[in-house]
Amino acid sequence: MGKDKLKRFSQLTTFSNVIQPNTDYFEKEHHIKGTWNKVFKNHHPLILELGCGAGEYTLGLAKLFPNINFIGIDIKGARIWKGAKLALDEKLNNVRFLRTKVDYLQQFFKENEVDEIWLTFSDPHPKKPRKRLTSELFINRYKSILKPNGIIHLKTDSKLLYEFTKEEILIRKHNLIKDIQNVYTYSYRENNQLEKILSIMTFYEYKWVEMNKIIKYLSFRIRS
Ligand SMILES: C[S@@+](CC[C@H](N)C(=O)[O-])C[C@H]1O[C@@H](n2cnc3c(N)ncnc32)[C@H](O)[C@@H]1O
Repeated sequence: MGKDKLKRFSQLTTFSNVIQPNTDYFEKEHHIKGTWNKVFKNHHPLILELGCGAGEYTLGLAKLFPNINFIGIDIKGARIWKGAKLALDEKLNNVRFLRTKVDYLQQFFKENEVDEIWLTFSDPHPKKPRKRLTSELFINRYKSILKPNGIIHLKTDSKLLYEFTKEEILIRKHNLIKDIQNVYTYSYRENNQLEKILSIMTFYEYKWVEMNKIIKYLSFRIRS
């Protein structure tokens, strides 16, 4: 491992906005579960970004909505380091990063604790549909921590993941809110807020746009 990466890993343990549990923690509930309002010292709504990488959505949304709390979740420390460092430099008090596998969400969040979930350029797992972050397995996990009206957002370059998710919404009778086939040519009309939100770009999004990939967006509520 490079010197810089090692330095960042050790720095990460000192960042006040990063929660980095022991790797064996997933076997039991983390003590932070159900106490996020104490972490943020308020009762504002809570939004998660899963597989956040450097957390561009976590940071971008936190700036747009200072009265909402955001947690970026990713397993890779070097990526989280970037977002966490920026959030500290910019004094974004409504941002935290959690270093864990998204598979263990229920160890960190209790029922009705989360308002919305963002999935940004998640791996489409072409050969393993169950591992897709919009598979029934994951949706059931989200359901157990989301408020009843909670929203899931998917932004993706992957035709496979986009079509799979639409199919899942249809089959499982979830409530589709928005379906945008190309976020860059879509006519937002009066919906300035959605346009602002969807103009936040992630590291991977920049790469895919350069390769002329079409960026798609879906939002939906899980059937109750
Ligand atoms: C394609 S990248 C997208 C990163 C970022 N959202 C972006 O758009 O630039 C997928 C991210 O998901 C993370 N990831 C993949 N599987 C994960 C898992 N099971 N738990 C936590 N993070 C995971 C990876 O570490 C990686 O940062």
